[in-house]
Parts: sequence; structure tokens; C-alpha cells
Amino acid sequence: MDLPKQLNDKFSIGEYSDGIHADDLENLKTGEYGYRYRLLENVVMPPYITPEKYQFSRTIQTRDSDICYTSYPKSGSTWLAYILVLIVNNGEIPACKDTLRNSLHWVASSWTYPRSQAELEATPSPRIFKSHMPYQMALGGDPIKNPCKYIYIARNPKDVAVSYYYFEREKSWSGYYSGPWDHWLKIFMEGNVQRGSWFDHVLSWWQHRDADNILFLRYEDLKANFKQELRKIMTFLGYEQHDDMITKIAEKTTFENMQKDNFSNMHEIKEFHSFFRKGKVRSWKEQFEEDQCLAFNEFYEKKNERHWTQFDLG
Ligand code: A3P
Repeated sequence: MDLPKQLNDKFSIGEYSDGIHADDLENLKTGEYGYRYRLLENVVMPPYITPEKYQFSRTIQTRDSDICYTSYPKSGSTWLAYILVLIVNNGEIPACKDTLRNSLHWVASSWTYPRSQAELEATPSPRIFKSHMPYQMALGGDPIKNPCKYIYIARNPKDVAVSYYYFEREKSWSGYYSGPWDHWLKIFMEGNVQRGSWFDHVLSWWQHRDADNILFLRYEDLKANFKQELRKIMTFLGYEQHDDMITKIAEKTTFENMQKDNFSNMHEIKEFHSFFRKGKVRSWKEQFEEDQCLAFNEFYEKKNERHWTQFDLG
């Protein structure tokens, strides 16, 4: 099968370019400080989530062996991805794959993970899918009517906001957004960043957390009690838990190991050179000013009136 050039050219995934990777160019929008986005289903999305790819992702025929991990951006989804790849491969890097990225399918994206229908059908089970969609835009249609297993990971929104700022700043896919931190925090709180409101996103999955085929995780729990959370994931997926396997996965997926391992460090994508930034809980404290912290806490309390999120904003 002929693979798209991006897949063959594994060490030089170039910058995202509207002209090459986006269609429907007339509907791309530019906000303050050049922030580039498109609207899909009224949710702010990156330009590389094209209407065509999005529709394709919604109609994928999922299998009961499929695993789809999902999150709001910068919530630990790449960490979860590596954990999943190791679980389904007996704790080892798959022999036929060169990178974590090439071990996954991200159907809604036209850029880093292009996949054709034929390629997806030819992929042996279990297939692992990546998604950053809110529940109502999930891979394969309505998740609770779907045979696929979905794992959602959420993270403290203050850490997400900071991580996301450094991820989006001056990047091709954000139109080289050049805003200062306080501008970013404002549009993050308004839900005007790619993937929309953190609250709407997390709430959309939280409301379905008790469904048999949905597992809801938190980044902070993985940090605090990795082996317990790993066992939870393996139980959910129906994998036996051997102590040596648990230890092996725990060692391979530390922040330090993922950052230095060429399989997982994403260095083949040029603009991901600082993807593994800090990997900490509450590193927001190094970024938020006191007044920003108070404003965010107040905003959070209002949005979280019914106490559905469980993050200690500290
Ligand atoms: P920071 O920017 O705070 O360091 P995603 O993969 O969803 O985009 O999330 C990226 C965030 O997860 C980044 O956060 C990244 O450093 C962190 N991360 C990636 N791998 C990790 C690991 N093995 N352990 C802890 N954090 C990790």
C-alpha cells in the first residue's frame, strides 16, 4: 500500500500548512494575535481538522476490540497513548512500528496522522485511535451506542491552560499565534481556543463516565498512583495484570523515559521539540499571577457550581 509521504518520511514531519493540509480554506478564521482556527459544530477547532476528515471520523465502523483515547489537549493523552500501545503489545514497543505516532490512528486530522479507509480496514485488532473531540463529536458516532472502548483523560485546567499556551504559541497550526499569556488565559477561559471550552469538553464526557465502554481518568491520579491507575485501565480493557508487566510499563512511560526515547519523544515532528515540557502537577504556579489565579478560581467556582469536576485548584 502506498503511504502518504508524511508517513514514509518519518524524521521530517514538516510544519502544518493551510495550503497543503487544510481544505475549505474560505472558512478558516483568524482571531486576535493571528490565532488561526475553524469552527466545526460551533466548536473552535484546528485548521487541520477538516470538515471532510471530521465526517470520516464520525462514520468509522468501530470494532469491539478498538480503543479510542480522548482528551482536551495537553491533558496527558500522549502519555496515555504510550501506556495503551504497551498494554496491547505485552509491554514492548511493537516490532513493526518506528514511532508512537505511527502506532496510532487519528482519523480527524489531515496532518500528522493521515489514514485512509483501506489502511484502517487493513489494520489488525486491536486498533488504537486518538481523538481530542468532545463527546458529541466523538470518533465513530455516539460512544454509548458504539462497540469501541473509550478512555477519557482530564487534567487540572490551570495546568492545561499553561501547557496549551506553550504548545500553541508561535506554531504553524495556530497561525503563529503571538499573544501574551494574559491574552491566552482570557481566550482559554472564554472557550475560544482550539477544541473550545475546557469545561464543556470535560463535562461532555464526565456525564457519560458510568457507561460500560467509557473510562474516565485524571492526569493527577496517574501521577500520584500510577500502578493502581494502570491496573484500572487494564481491567477496563480486559487484560491480565502481571506484576512484571506493570513494572515494565511503569518504567517505560515515565516522563524522563518518554522524553529521551526516540519511539515516544515525537522528535520527528519539527515543531514538537519542546513537547515534553515539564510533566508536573501544579506547574501552573510558575505562570499564573496572583490576580489571574483569583480570577480563574472565581470563574471555575461559577462553572463548577454543581461540583462535577474534582480538581483541587490549590
Ligand atoms: P506539560 O506541558 O505541563 O509538561 P498531551 O499529550 O495531551 O498533549 O499532554 C501533554 C502534557 O503531558 C505535557 O504537559 C507533557 O509534558 C505531559 N506528559 C507527557 N508525557 C508525560 C509523562 N510520561 N508523564 C507525565 N506527564 C507527561
